[in-house]
Amino acid sequence: MRGKLLIVMGPPGAGKGTQAQRVAERLGLAHVATGDLFREAMVRQTKLGRQAEPYVKRGEYVPDQITLGLVCERLRQPDARAGVILDGFPRTLEQARGLDALLAEMGAAVDRVVYLDVPEEELMGRLTGRWTCRNCQAVYHVLYNPPKQPGVCDACGGELYQRPDDTPEVVRRRLEVYSQQTAPLVDRYRASGVLVRVAGDGSPDEVTRAVLDVLEAGQRAKE
Ligand code: AP5
Repeated sequence: MRGKLLIVMGPPGAGKGTQAQRVAERLGLAHVATGDLFREAMVRQTKLGRQAEPYVKRGEYVPDQITLGLVCERLRQPDARAGVILDGFPRTLEQARGLDALLAEMGAAVDRVVYLDVPEEELMGRLTGRWTCRNCQAVYHVLYNPPKQPGVCDACGGELYQRPDDTPEVVRRRLEVYSQQTAPLVDRYRASGVLVRVAGDGSPDEVTRAVLDVLEAGQRAKE
């Protein structure tokens, strides 16, 4: 891999998908979102999709070996050579160790981990008001980022839908799983000096600006 390897972390609804998409476009990186890859596989009912479906529906994590296999395959695609922004991966210590081993094989390492910090009380409203494009996975919010025409994606004209794991009950489970299994990873990346925290509770444009600022500051510090 020639380009950067960035990770966007944060609880469900922190804005990982929204920000990773924008940063990928801005910096010319491949946006690799494990949640999107699982949902696509579920729609196509591939073997991976059938394996992932029961976990995703319950708001629980897909087993590490399945997830790691998926990411290894994705990072070997030609578009990943120019650099990647990982969204929603890694989420467990096992996944983080697997990623380090894979990157070492490729002669690469994690450059920066952006942790989007959003107060927990804001997350439920963000997720239950979210609408996602069936075609291109673009994300909207009924109040904070409405599409120009209700139910229609601004970017590609695709149909917008509400994710079945965005019901209050499943969101509660996702938040629980996050705090048990993923929050400890924040400490791991902080200890290794690659983590930067960005307040994720401004407007989407303000958060994008803040993320790009910390990435540029990190780049300048290296030069
Ligand atoms: P995934 O799709 O990754 O779900 P998640 O981590 O729960 O994150 P979300 O996609 O729900 O939220 P987000 O942080 O991307 O926020 P978004 O930008 O959309 O994973 C789904 C499932 O797949 C998991 O539960 C698991 O089963 C499985 N899975 C995935 N990865 C896995 C892994 N590594 N290991 C095992 N299993 C895995 O924004 C949310 C809403 O807020 C939107 O409506 C948006 O418009 C709005 N919004 C965004 N930013 C702002 C802002 N600044 N102000 C106001 N509103 C905002």
